[in-house]
Amino acid sequence: MESVNSADISSFEERGFLVVENLFSKLEVEDMKTACHKLVDKLDPEKESPPAFKTSGDQKDRGDYFLTSGDKIRYFYETAAVDEDGRLKNGADKFKSINKIGHALHVLEPTFNKYTFDERIKCLVDRIGMRQPAVCQSMYIFKQARIGGAVPPHLDATYLYTHPLGKVIGIWIALEDAKIENGCLWFIPGSHKEVEKAGDVPVRFVRVKEEDIKQEGCLTKSTGSYPDYDESTFVPVPIKAGDAIIIHGLVVHKSEPNKTENQSRHIYTYHIVEQEGTTWDQDNWLQPTTQIPFTPLDSQ
Ligand code: FE2
Repeated sequence: MESVNSADISSFEERGFLVVENLFSKLEVEDMKTACHKLVDKLDPEKESPPAFKTSGDQKDRGDYFLTSGDKIRYFYETAAVDEDGRLKNGADKFKSINKIGHALHVLEPTFNKYTFDERIKCLVDRIGMRQPAVCQSMYIFKQARIGGAVPPHLDATYLYTHPLGKVIGIWIALEDAKIENGCLWFIPGSHKEVEKAGDVPVRFVRVKEEDIKQEGCLTKSTGSYPDYDESTFVPVPIKAGDAIIIHGLVVHKSEPNKTENQSRHIYTYHIVEQEGTTWDQDNWLQPTTQIPFTPLDSQ
């Protein structure tokens, strides 16, 4: 790993993201991909019947399987991989049909546990200035060739909301080269500052309160709407397998569909919340549970 210096930290503070090259070696990358392959091997589509994970359009209700996935390992299909009944299309290869696996790989799967609590990450997070960092969720995202859908512009604090605002960062580790063609991340540099100035996020994604579920007819919902971001202000950030991007919780980012024939874009990502002086919002879809509370980074 190239060392992160104070200019890098200033750049992170200015731009809202930071590329760290060669964070993990080729062997370590393969280790994570193999661990994921074993997880998919274990999936019995008949028993588990994963739902599709919609990244665009109406994301209002993600249902109970999603809502209760914070302390489990659960699978979500690409929308284009399932039929109208939500079942895997006939003859579809499950390895090429999954959108993501989440959200407690960092605790429940030993390989991801090892790399999540890696000394290099602890060092980075310390440099960024987090005092009591804790891991709140983790995901393996496949961005499958041909069918990997777009993720529209958003900020992560929409999903992981804190008081004060934006006390969350994302660690996004490429396990395959992330290029413009197969759906790398795009950012609006400095957009986290606009959100800070505005004093709140434009959209929240929340769990519906117990007493309102019947009336609302859903378990989760979005409130508010994103502005029409100027497409020309997004910059692509292609990275190589083994590189990582540190993402500020308030910076606007997106990814385009994977338009390649055979180049998936696997990544492992997780989120870290600053627990010192921070309150986790009760309406967040993700809540710590007694089985899996948010895990302090220095606890392992
Ligand atoms: Fe994101």
